[in-house]
Amino acid sequence: MTDIEAFVRGLPKTDLHMHIEGSIEPQLMLDLAARNGLKLRWDTAEALRGAYQFQNLQSFLDLYFEGCKVLVTERDFHDVTRAYLRRAHEDGVIRAELFIGPQSFTERGTPIEALMSGVLGAMQEARREHGMSVGLMISVHRHRTEPEAVAVLDQVMPWKDDIIAIGMGGAEIGTPPSKFARFFRAARDRGFRTTVHAGEEGPAAYVREALELLHVDRIDHGNACLGDPDLVRELAARRAPLTVCPLSNLRLRVVPRMQDHPLKVLMAHGLHVTVNSDDPPYFDGYVTENLLACRDAFGLSPEEIVRLVRNGLEAAFVTEEERRALLARLDAYVAAHADAFGAASVGLLAT
Ligand code: ADE
Ligand code: ZN
Repeated sequence: MTDIEAFVRGLPKTDLHMHIEGSIEPQLMLDLAARNGLKLRWDTAEALRGAYQFQNLQSFLDLYFEGCKVLVTERDFHDVTRAYLRRAHEDGVIRAELFIGPQSFTERGTPIEALMSGVLGAMQEARREHGMSVGLMISVHRHRTEPEAVAVLDQVMPWKDDIIAIGMGGAEIGTPPSKFARFFRAARDRGFRTTVHAGEEGPAAYVREALELLHVDRIDHGNACLGDPDLVRELAARRAPLTVCPLSNLRLRVVPRMQDHPLKVLMAHGLHVTVNSDDPPYFDGYVTENLLACRDAFGLSPEEIVRLVRNGLEAAFVTEEERRALLARLDAYVAAHADAFGAASVGLLAT
């Protein structure tokens, strides 16, 4: 491991955009299938991993929804959440905010109680065993109807205090945020923070709708905002966080090469950019690999990497008291590693 790799892996960081059902490592996928008496199209972890070649978001979603079938029981939800959190902890993540989309599972007969108990139980264990800060976000599918999304909101109300935000993912083109304006209004009226996938494959107009019609607290991806300079200025003025997922964008061919990724341009416009994993096994990388891929493509300095990590802590859905404590861990780490970067590290502590 190089010095910079070790530095990045050890940085106390966030993962604010990841999907539990997109975090099933291939061997766990096979084990869960066997446990539930299901036959997958692949017999080995290598064969399954080899299938992770995507043409676009939809080709990924087809496989992702197929993979969802192995999550059936409370124990399954517990095990996959626990595995992700252990891996994220090893990756230096101190604050993880996890999406789960209940519709894939409740439609096949898994009770919402089983899903929530499994996930929340594993999150509690990660707090206890790893000292991690973790939060759960409920996401709905944009290819389904708005009344179905509102029904999810009704279903999860008994766990209101365990849910940090409501979001939405799925195939973007043809399903603008405006289609879900009433749903997001209902979520906000019930006191939830909100976030929405926008501007991943869709246009800048979808990011604008997310901001102006849905009034979300964060935008997941958001890359396409660059197509609208006024919107970029508005996002920067509001310090609206973007949860960017570079390896996801590369593997889903949102960009042809990492060098073409807009990360640095977004940063140069003063946007509140954070770096996240989305669906780590499918895209071959957790947060560290995402940061290192950006470093390789753009020659990010240690200061810029620390800036991205600090942005994540600043965008996390935590109390201000907890944020101060998390930021203090980052500051202490940076101070302890300042010499590793010589004169270039002088600015590392600057906020
Ligand atoms: N669900 C899981 N990953 C997603 C992505 N990258 N875009 C939209 N929905 C998703
Ligand atoms: Zn996502």
